[in-house]
Formats: sequence, C-alpha cells, structure tokens
Amino acid sequence: MAEQLGNLTRTHTCGALRPDDVGADVVLLGWVHRVRDLGGLLFIDVRDRAGVTQVVFGGDDEALMGKAKKLRSEFVVGVSGHVQRRSAETVNAKLATGEVEVVVRSLVLLNEARTPPFPVADDTPVSEDVRLKYRYMDLRRPRLQANIILRHRVTSVIRQYFDANGFLDIETPILTKSTPEGARDYLVPSRVHAGEFFALPQSPQLFKQILMIAGMDRYVQICRCFRDEDLRADRQPEFTQVDVEMAFARPETIFAMIEPLMKAIFAVTGHEIETPFPRMPYAEAMAKYGSDKPDLRPGMPIQDVREGFRESSFRVFKEIVAGGGTVRGFVVKNAGGYSRSEVDGIVDQAKAMGAAGLVWARRSEDGAVTSSIMKALGDAGVRSLLDAASCGNGELLLVAAGEPDATSKLLGQIRLNLAKQKGLLNPDTHAFTWVVDFPLLEWDGEEKRYVAMHHPFTSPLDEDMAKLDTEPGAARAKAYDLVLNGSEIGGGSIRIHDATMQSRIFSLLNISPEEAKLRFGFFVEALEYGTPPHGGIALGLDRIVAILANESSIREVIAFPKTATAADLMSGAPSPVDDRQLRDLHLQTRTRPERARADHA
Ligand code: AMO
Repeated sequence: MAEQLGNLTRTHTCGALRPDDVGADVVLLGWVHRVRDLGGLLFIDVRDRAGVTQVVFGGDDEALMGKAKKLRSEFVVGVSGHVQRRSAETVNAKLATGEVEVVVRSLVLLNEARTPPFPVADDTPVSEDVRLKYRYMDLRRPRLQANIILRHRVTSVIRQYFDANGFLDIETPILTKSTPEGARDYLVPSRVHAGEFFALPQSPQLFKQILMIAGMDRYVQICRCFRDEDLRADRQPEFTQVDVEMAFARPETIFAMIEPLMKAIFAVTGHEIETPFPRMPYAEAMAKYGSDKPDLRPGMPIQDVREGFRESSFRVFKEIVAGGGTVRGFVVKNAGGYSRSEVDGIVDQAKAMGAAGLVWARRSEDGAVTSSIMKALGDAGVRSLLDAASCGNGELLLVAAGEPDATSKLLGQIRLNLAKQKGLLNPDTHAFTWVVDFPLLEWDGEEKRYVAMHHPFTSPLDEDMAKLDTEPGAARAKAYDLVLNGSEIGGGSIRIHDATMQSRIFSLLNISPEEAKLRFGFFVEALEYGTPPHGGIALGLDRIVAILANESSIREVIAFPKTATAADLMSGAPSPVDDRQLRDLHLQTRTRPERARADHA
C-alpha cells in the first residue's frame, strides 16, 4: 500500500551529497534503482533526475528492515537519515555521490511499481517498439535523461540569444490554412463550418512574413511543425523549428545572426565552433559532393577528370563526353592497403547503385600503377590520368562517366560509404557550411510544371531576374541551407516583398490567379500594405540536438516521438473515433481502421 507524502520534504537531490555533508540529517525522495541484500545489511541505490545515492538499512530496527526488504526496482520511496562517509574500500569513484551514503532512520513507501519491461538501471539494448510503448520507463534511463536535459539547455541558450538580440517571441496559429512546404498537410475538420478544414502548419512561413509586414522587425519562435511525409531517421511528422524572420535582411544579415547562435549552442557541449562558416554555391556542392548537403569531413572532393581521357583511346568515355556527358572522379587517400577484392567490392557497390560502370586507377606506395582500364589506356595513359587528378602514391582514383548530376550523385554516395567504412566521419568534428544560390525552381516531371525549390515566397537573385523571362529553370534564388556534417540543419531565404513579383512567381509555378487568391489571397493582399524587404531561416532543432548528443536518430532527442509509420505506440494515436464525433464533424470514413484495432486490441 502506498503511503502519503505528508509533510516529508526533500532536503537534497540524489546527486547532491558530498563528504562535506557527513553528519547532516537528510531526506531523499526518488526511485529504487538497485537493491543489494547482504542479509544483515541492505543497500539501496535511490535515484532521481539528479543522480543516484546509496542508502543503507542496518541496525536492529526490525520493522524498518522488514519494510526495506520489500523494496523492488522502481518503487518510489522517501528516506530520512544521516550522511556518513563510506569506508575506503566501498567508495564508488564512478558516482558523484560515491564517497558517502545515507544511514536510513525511516522509510516511506510512496508507491510500488510493476516489474519494469526492461531494466532502467542500465542501457541494455531493447527493441525500439518496446521503448516507445513504455516511453516513461525509457525516459528514466540515463541516455534519454541526458538527451532531454541537453535539449532543454539548448533551447534555453537559443531563447537567451534571441532575447539579447532584440527578437520578439511570438506565437502563430496551429489551426490555420495550408502553407505549402512540399509535404502533405495534416487536416483538422471544422465542426462549425461543415465540410471545411484547418491545416496544421508545415511551418509558420506566411505568419512570420506577415509579422514583418506588421512591423515586428525581428521574430523568433521555437515552434512545432507538422508534415505528413515519408519518415526517416531525421524526419518526424511533428518536429520543432527555431523559426526566425528579420525585416530589412540580406542573406549576410541572417548568416551574421545565426553563426554566433551556433557557436553558443555548441558551447553547451563544450565544442568550439569556428566562424564564419564557409559558403558554397549549390552548383558547386552538387558537382563536388553530389549532394546539396555535403559532408565536408572526409575531404575527397569529386573533380572533373575529362582531361585525363583527352588523349586516350578509351572509347566509352570519349563517346559519353561527345554526347554532352562528363567524366568525374575522386581520390581516396591512404588506399594503398586496399586489396584487389576490396576495390572490386567498391565497383560492385556502384553497380548495385545503378552505375553503368566505375573505373579505377591507383598508385601503389612505391609508385607502380594499376587500373581497371590498363589495357585501354596503357601505363602512360593511366599515369597521365592519375596526374590529372593529383592522385599520389598509395592513393586510389575512382572514376565514373555520364550525365553530370547523376555522375556526381553516384560518386558522392560511394564517397560517403567509403568515408563511413574508413571511419572518416568523426562525430567530434563539426563541418558547417552554408549552401547558397539554390535554383529558384525545380522541374516536376510528373506534374509537368515548375515547383519552388525552397518555397514560392523566395526571392530570385537580383542578377538572375532577367532569366525569369528567358530561362526560368536557370534562375537562382536568395535561398540558403545550413549544413552540418551532411545534415541539413536549417533552411531559409530572402523573401519576395513585392506583390507584383509574387504574382509573377505564382504564374511561373502555374498557379492561376484564382487559385493564388484562394490559397494565399490574404497574404498577397497584405504584401500590398507596405511590406519591408525581409528574410529568415528555420533551424531543425531536433536535428541539431541529435548531432550534439551524437545520436543517429532524432527520435532519441524527442520525449514522445512517433514511429516510422507516424504512430504513437504509447498513447495509441492515431485511433478510431466514435460515430458521434464523426457526425459532429460532418465526416464519414471510407475504410474501417483495421490497423488501429489490431494494434490496440
Ligand atoms: P524547411 O522546410 O527547410 O524550411 O525546414 C527548416 C528545417 O527544419 C528541419 N526539418 C525537419 N526536421 C525534422 N523532421 C522533419 N520532417 C523536418 N522537415 C524539416 C530541417 C530543415 O532544414 N519555412 C521554411 C523556413 C524559411 O524559409 O524561413 C522551412 O520550413 O532541419
């Protein structure tokens, strides 16, 4: 039976006691972490958020001992007693409180607990489904506790930083109108307006722009965004953005505001970040790394090696180049030790990724050359190819040819796989880069129209305005992503602040004036009431904290995340609702929710 707390008051957390406290009378409140029963002596580790303290039951109080012997893992207790120094041989150097223990005088059993589905006391591996179903138990474990505390410290630093820089924290609606960020909306039916729906925000994009029109000057919000899209380790259906907007901003204004913020955030885990961050145009990122979120840690940029084939008789590549294709490659350092079968393994990997072929050439430590196209190029040809690519002794050159983007993407994948295998992705190295000058538009082959690469409110580069008439696909935007170690941790742009230009972009996107009015009419109208130039960015908070915590999935830094199928295993959401609720909302479902019934039976 659970006892009441009464007027029992905590004097110390379970992480607080030190040798200085010896002799003090203390009260600890927490969970039974571990029990060690030595017959006449009973040791219990009591745990709370702050740590663990050993308490001891001994002496001749039989009633107290009898009660203590009933304690099991995760029971909730209050203990009163005095602090004593542990004997030298029982000091636990791994515990902050390990030099002392509490000799218990009285024990209050505040609650019992069912046998935990997995041990809380250590980090034994448990299937993620079980962890998510019993998230409250998982959250008691050291790893998640540390992650959640880290997340709190990061958000505190962010709030302080923006406050000190004159930003206003302003909340924007959750029940709102659909704003396009490229994913599907989560919809909420309106009871009052039959047949009409709110959308949960994919981001507060239009509201933050309207706040600039409203003269708020600098806005920030740590806000939840909702996107119904395919989920991966770095994507959740609801996730958190640090959403920022500034009036009178140029890209430089945003970079200069965000870089010191990143410095402050990374200082939370004791990392020193160098600023300013390098900037790389999108086109360069795609060519050199085959990705718009390049991981710069391993080096090994992709280069154009057409030159190395100019004189050669290697027909395949010559024909590809003649047809407008390209030949690119990258140099793998310290590859002297690669066996022939390892190199063949890389080629097989490339084929599995859909490559027509991957060619290699290498110099051994003593300068001898070998190549998969030795026959075609000859020794001199291979040497001149290796020279052209600056491939030295003990290095391996991997080469592919074809359409430029596809070739770089393929090589980029191989580069990353090799970097992973060779341990070149050191989690303690933080390679930031701004990727800038994104294309404004992207061709959607399925819909046969341009779509906005960032979003439809992004301004073209001044020097590319003329291209909107002649070659819209080639126009670049004032859009930028913040990339860290191959992860996109933020994205933003300078916005269109001119209503005429905004209408023009809608028409390039094949959004008719009627549709624009229906979807964004309120916003376009607002643009006509004295809109300052403005721009902003949104940072992916979950991704940043996951990187800081060295976790490979953002689920590890979110208290209550959803599964890869966007379900909450703990609460059972989503779940069927009763007919009455549906009737109130003027809704009828076309399928019976079998999954929900099966899962939650
Ligand atoms: P964007 O769509 O690039 O920009 O989003 C900004 C950042 O949010 C993070 N992010 C996600 N994190 C977890 N799960 C997801 N499903 C997810 N989707 C995005 C990424 C990304 O860089 N309104 C614009 C910002 C602006 O223009 O100011 C926007 O939302 O780290």
